[in-house]
Amino acid sequence: KRLVLIGPPGSGKGTQSPVIKDEYCLCHLATGDMLRSAVSAKTPLGIKAKEAMDKGELVSDDLVVGIIDEAMKKPSCQKGFILDGFPRTVGQAQKLDEMLERQGVKIDKVLDFAIDDSILEERITGRWIHPASGRSYHTKFAPPKVPGVDDVTGEPLIQRKDDTAAVLKSRLEAFHKQTEPVIDYYSKKGAVAKLNAEKPPKAVTDEIRKVLS
Ligand code: AP5
Ligand code: ZN
Repeated sequence: KRLVLIGPPGSGKGTQSPVIKDEYCLCHLATGDMLRSAVSAKTPLGIKAKEAMDKGELVSDDLVVGIIDEAMKKPSCQKGFILDGFPRTVGQAQKLDEMLERQGVKIDKVLDFAIDDSILEERITGRWIHPASGRSYHTKFAPPKVPGVDDVTGEPLIQRKDDTAAVLKSRLEAFHKQTEPVIDYYSKKGAVAKLNAEKPPKAVTDEIRKVLS
């Protein structure tokens, strides 16, 4: 399947992605994860993206469309994919449509992670991630077996630089202004399934399975 995940920061896109990927054999492309590794490797792309990311603003459409265009060429992404955090503007959605049209394929479903803003600060400030794999934990909702350590590799966990209450405010503003219109864009095409992302992780996974079956 070809899926797009849309939701505000902390709504659970990254948490649900590995489950969907395993069960539906898809590739997982998360523009945020790709940009963060470019920033830590100080590549030209990372250098250009860092300032906007630190402020909680969106990186330019050209940069992210370029990353996705390149990443979708991977053989593992030919039969299906999960796009996590892309498209995030109507411009990006239009570019994606053009890319897919050239391949003669289209998006099967857009999963809309609907959640009230008031819940997100606790989710974001309690998150710890394993940067190499993208796995995320939460001090209260999904604690690792040993605090500060990845369950699988034993490597240290870190907090994202943009996971503060102050930067969350700008990220949410960007979401409401620039990304919510993308949900309307896909609604007109009849592709959107709305999820209740306020439920516990397992309940959200069940809702996703229902939508995709
Ligand atoms: P990105 O990395 O995409 O961040 P985001 O959209 O802000 O989303 P998050 O990763 O914060 O949230 P999530 O939904 O994945 O939450 P998670 O599952 O981890 O983007 C970062 C930046 O990169 C952007 O600000 C921008 O600058 C740039 N960027 C990226 N893509 C771009 C694009 N296309 N265009 C332009 N710029 C772009 O969950 C959060 C926490 O909650 C975790 O600790 C988790 O354990 C916990 N949790 C998850 N689900 C539940 C649940 N159901 N109940 C309780 N706890 C839960
Ligand atoms: Zn994420």
